[in-house]
This record gives sequence, structure tokens and C-alpha cells, in this order.
Amino acid sequence: MFHVLGAGSLGLLWIARLQQAGLDCRLLLRDQAALQRWQAAGNQLHFTAPSGQHQLCINSEVAAQSDTPISILIVATKAHAVMTALESLRYRLTSASQILLLQNGLGAQQQVTQAFPEQRVLYASVTDGAWQPAPQQLVWAGQGQTLIGDPAQQPAPHWLLQLDQRAINWQWSEQILAVLWRKLAVNCAINPFTLLFDCSNGEVPQHAGVWLDQCIAELQVLLATQGIAAQDLDQQIHDVIRRTASNSSSMRQDLHAGRRTELAYILGYACSEAQHSGVPAPALERLLTATRQRLSELGLPVD
Ligand SMILES: NC(=O)c1ccc[n+]([C@@H]2O[C@H](COP(=O)([O-])OP(=O)(O)OC[C@H]3O[C@@H](n4cnc5c(N)ncnc54)[C@H](OP(=O)(O)O)[C@@H]3O)[C@@H](O)[C@H]2O)c1
Repeated sequence: MFHVLGAGSLGLLWIARLQQAGLDCRLLLRDQAALQRWQAAGNQLHFTAPSGQHQLCINSEVAAQSDTPISILIVATKAHAVMTALESLRYRLTSASQILLLQNGLGAQQQVTQAFPEQRVLYASVTDGAWQPAPQQLVWAGQGQTLIGDPAQQPAPHWLLQLDQRAINWQWSEQILAVLWRKLAVNCAINPFTLLFDCSNGEVPQHAGVWLDQCIAELQVLLATQGIAAQDLDQQIHDVIRRTASNSSSMRQDLHAGRRTELAYILGYACSEAQHSGVPAPALERLLTATRQRLSELGLPVD
């Protein structure tokens, strides 16, 4: 049985696809109020996928109101909510439980690995795009891929090998930390600028100018200190900017919705790792200070 923790866009995308594949799965909700909302809506999810419109009946329960042990836990909260959410159901985990973390950025993953030494903890990098136009509704806007790996570089677990790749388009990655680091570097160079200048991805170079080049150069050095090849990072970042020119980054969307951003787990993580490794990162630091100031002016959490 799969348990999916977090009934937001990505959690719903996972539960919808697992359920469509006929797998035994359950959605874990924050509290009784959330459960009542689901029950009042007949536990129905309206799922708009590239294959068409689907109406699904989702099995759900409050995360910390059951005694049933959890064997496979897919964690789909935002990075800053991971530890609290996991602690709330720690009593349901056994030493055989496995945890799959879907968060963007870095930092939360290492916290979980450290806090749950008895469980196998896997990390994922997700390129799907999903959003909720309204409660009980989910739009799978962009079909992507999920790279999954073990930071301890152990082989893929049995349950994953049995997970039909037509249901969840996953691939095993031997280098999941490097994958997450590279994604973090791309996000660091684009997302905070979109927040700071309230602009689309494609408008970042014109607003940031040489500041963008300085950030990319610092990120290249930072990746190199992590043992990650980054000669083509500049090209990759500009490719992403071109391909997603009209997109509004998740950080900018969070800003507009008045939600807490994942800045601390993206740019904040890069800056603290740079400091830790003795890599000078004045342009990234300046960007972190400026974005924090912007968030604080708007009354949003800055950490
Ligand atoms: N959406 C995407 O397309 C996408 C793509 C790639 C990666 N990601 C990454 O996936 C992660 C999740 O993103 P998202 O867009 O799905 O975020 P989201 O829509 O905000 O969903 C997060 C969900 O977690 C729930 N949650 C928070 N704390 C909880 C707790 N203690 N117990 C139970 N549930 C809890 C939230 O409930 P409340 O609403 O009650 O707070 C919310 O439903 C992020 O790290 C994001 O960067 C997302």
C-alpha cells in the first residue's frame, strides 16, 4: 500500500496516477477539517490529464489518526512542511518503512535522512507540472519525469521496480544528489529574480543583467566543489529561460498567492553551502538579501 502525504498539487498527481494504475493507495490529510472537506465533496477528485478528464474517488484519512503502519510513504508537502508532517506520523513508521521525498530544492531531504535513520529515505527530482484551479480539482499541465535515487547509492527498491513506468514515469538515478544540485542551481539563477522583479522567466536576463552572469559563475564554482560537472550550466540556464520564457516560476506564483516560498531550500541552501565550503558567493548573497527583503516588505516568511 502506498501512502501519499500532502493533498496539494503534486500529492494529488501521485495519488491520481497510482489509483488509475489500480494500486492500493491512500491520501494522508493534515487534519479532521481537511478530511471533512473531502468527505463533503464525496471524496471526488476531478483530474484533467493529457489523456482527458477523469473523475476519481480518493481514499483518504487524517495522517496522524490511524494506527495502521505505513510501508511506502510518498511525501508531497512543501519543503518547509516536511519535518512537521513526518514527525506527526513517525509512530506509524517501522524500520521496514521507506520514505520517498518529492520536494524541490535541498536541505529538507538531508534533515529527513538524519531524523529518520531507521528508515530508507529516497529522494526524487520531479519535472511534472500540476496545479489546482479549485479544491477537489487537479490539472496535470506538463507531463514530465521523476528521477528517483538513494543518496546512500543503494540499488532501487523492489517496490519501485514493480511500479509500472506507464503509471508514473520514473527512472532510477545513481546520482540523485547531483541531479538535485543541478536543478537547484538552475532554480537559483531564475526563480529568485522572478520574485524580485515580479517577472516571467524569459524577462530575467533583461532585468538582472550582469547580476545573472555573476550568479551563474558562482553556482558553477559551487557545483564543482560538490564534485558536479557544471561547465554547461550557463547554457542550460539560458536554455531553460528560453524554453519557459512565458512561465511564471513557482516562487513568483507563491508570491502572488501570498504563500510561503521555498527560497530557503533553494537560494538559501546554496548560500549556506557556499559559506560552508568557503566558496565566495557575493552575487548570490546579494540576491538572497534582496529577495528576503522583498518578502518581508510583503509580509511573507523570509526563512
Ligand atoms: N506542483 C508541481 O507541479 C510540482 C512539480 C515539481 C516539484 N514540486 C515540489 O513538490 C512539493 C509540493 O508542491 P505542491 O505544489 O504540491 O505544493 P502544495 O500544492 O502547497 O501542496 C502541499 C500540501 O502539503 C500539505 N501539508 C502541509 N503540511 C502538512 C502536514 N503537516 N500534514 C499533512 N499535509 C500537509 C498542504 O496542506 P495545507 O494546504 O493544509 O497547508 C498542501 O496540501 C514542493 O516541494 C514543490 O516544489 C511540485
